[in-house]
Amino acid sequence: MHLEVANVYKQFETRQEPLVALKDINMHVETGEFVCAVGASGSGKSTLLRIIAGLDLPTAGEITVDGLRVVGPGADRGMVFQSYTLYPWKTVQKNVEFGLKLQGMTTRECRERASEYLDIVGLSKFSQALPRELSGGMKQRVAIARALACEPKILLMDEPFGALDVQTKEAMQQFLLELWHRTKTTILMITHDVEEAVFVSQRIYVMTARPGQIQKEVIVDLEGDRTYTIKRDAKFQSIKNDIMDQLRGIHGVTA
Ligand SMILES: Nc1ncnc2c1ncn2[C@@H]1O[C@H](COP(=O)(O)OP(=O)(O)OP(=O)(O)O)[C@@H](O)[C@H]1O
Ligand SMILES: [Mg+2]
Repeated sequence: MHLEVANVYKQFETRQEPLVALKDINMHVETGEFVCAVGASGSGKSTLLRIIAGLDLPTAGEITVDGLRVVGPGADRGMVFQSYTLYPWKTVQKNVEFGLKLQGMTTRECRERASEYLDIVGLSKFSQALPRELSGGMKQRVAIARALACEPKILLMDEPFGALDVQTKEAMQQFLLELWHRTKTTILMITHDVEEAVFVSQRIYVMTARPGQIQKEVIVDLEGDRTYTIKRDAKFQSIKNDIMDQLRGIHGVTA
């Protein structure tokens, strides 16, 4: 898998002057990588992910997956949104089956595949529950199962834990890392939470706002297991502080 974002611009026509949301974005994600893009609110993160997902088109530039140009949504890219997007009237099982049906699988294949991925996210017991009976973290695990069940080449996540409390968020970050190790899924996640990005990813693109641009690429070369204690390590703190300074517009300053 090779995702390439090449010279992407996005301009929105507004009632005032046109708004440049993304300016000359270049990035790539390779098989098995866990990459994050971080940026403040309004830096164009959702716009970028929507364009990669094929839900919106760039004004200029192009996105390719394994050399094929993205022109719309496709089963090769699975998406998890920030807000809960489960169908409230469908059971957890039916929510996960939904995308599979659209791909033309038989009823039995859908059932088996959905059960397999609900097991992977640890929610087999809740297969017959309705979304309103689940906590926020559980809902996002269903959304992840739904995206993964289609076995996409890459999982795209738009601030998936943004609406969760701190403890649930930490548990979900740990869960996502374990899932990534177990399933070897390629992940591109966007977040405004720098600590979250440093904790989960191997590489980070730092985005600045108005217009949204990539200012820096950071390699997260942390050694050892990524458990919450790593957040206290000096190396972790130094990577995090460096990115925070970039976002604040302070460069090359040592405190
Ligand atoms: N459909 C649209 N029409 C006009 N302007 C838009 C549209 N979508 C986004 N924008 C503008 O583009 C800019 C980037 O928005 P975007 O939602 O991508 O930012 P973001 O980084 O995801 O922010 P947040 O962290 O708050 O989710 C904003 O200034 C926003 O107002
Ligand atoms: Mg957003």
